[in-house]
Amino acid sequence: MSSTITVPAQHALERILSLEIVRVTERAAVSAARLRGRGKDKASDQAAVDAMRRELNKLPIEGTVVIGEGELDEAPMLFIGEKVGTRNGPKVDIAVDPLEGTILCAKNMPGAIATMAMAEGGTLLNAPDVYMEKIAIGPGYPKGVVQLDASSEENILNLAKAKGVKPEEITACILDRPRHAELIAGVRKVGGAVKLISDGDVAGVIDCADSETTGVDIYLGIGGAPEGVLAAAALRCIGGQMQCRLQLDTEERRARGVTMGITDPRKIYEIEDMVKGDCLFAATGVTTGSFLRGVRFRKDVIETETVVMRSITGTVRYIRAEHRQLDKFHLD
Ligand code: FBP
Repeated sequence: MSSTITVPAQHALERILSLEIVRVTERAAVSAARLRGRGKDKASDQAAVDAMRRELNKLPIEGTVVIGEGELDEAPMLFIGEKVGTRNGPKVDIAVDPLEGTILCAKNMPGAIATMAMAEGGTLLNAPDVYMEKIAIGPGYPKGVVQLDASSEENILNLAKAKGVKPEEITACILDRPRHAELIAGVRKVGGAVKLISDGDVAGVIDCADSETTGVDIYLGIGGAPEGVLAAAALRCIGGQMQCRLQLDTEERRARGVTMGITDPRKIYEIEDMVKGDCLFAATGVTTGSFLRGVRFRKDVIETETVVMRSITGTVRYIRAEHRQLDKFHLD
């Protein structure tokens, strides 16, 4: 006698989409990777945007880009508010960063990725393209053990205590920017180590979720708000804690926030405020980084590596693909 397991329609669709979105980031990554090391950050970003948009428009969704390349007037494609998909499917919010680490790609340095997240319509934070203060740690710690408004010294000491190690065994990942001088000094003052990255803080946050492999325990600092929402989507799937605050530090930025529904400019956002429901997250390596291998161009095959995550089950899949119909990566 055979038994049938019934999967609710919404979940079934989400399962299908979780594999569909892999194609979206794969294509964007391959298009960007063709321009690796050419010093052309804008051209590689544009190539990734074009490819991602083409693929998104093939998905059976009624999608709205809520985190994109900017507003309509400054971004011709994948702008905030752009409708994507065949319009024949569920209403979903889309967050994209077709090339996260444009400079990394232009210089052929480690860690550039093509990434996106998808969630039920109305559940992703509509964040303006401003800076965001961020703190993130991986799963397994008591809630609130680190705090956005605590000093970096306090956070390192509290995290070390919660991990049951000395502060010397804690590593903080921080973007290498002059604005982080105080933060970096604070971590080092209490004995912690700092891993400086030149770009790519989506990966910086994700690295916290697997500290045994990456050696990173905590992400600290100010980066882009769009990257913050994408990283929150990843942590919603794999666990961890994150607190963020938009830097709405001018009248103009506050006004822009208001048009996007942000009435409290000092609000601290946790993962559940940025990603209010279940989501999917995918990223494909453009250049090899801490958790993904970059695109490899072989004679007759293009190889990609993608991670795709679903929050509903917490499943994380690494998909290594060999693409043989190479013309498809140029034409469709
Ligand atoms: P881009 O790919 O858009 O250039 O972003 C790279 C990045 O390093 C992000 O990961 C990070 O959030 C942001 O830039 C930091 O901004 P800035 O370079 O202005 O400090």
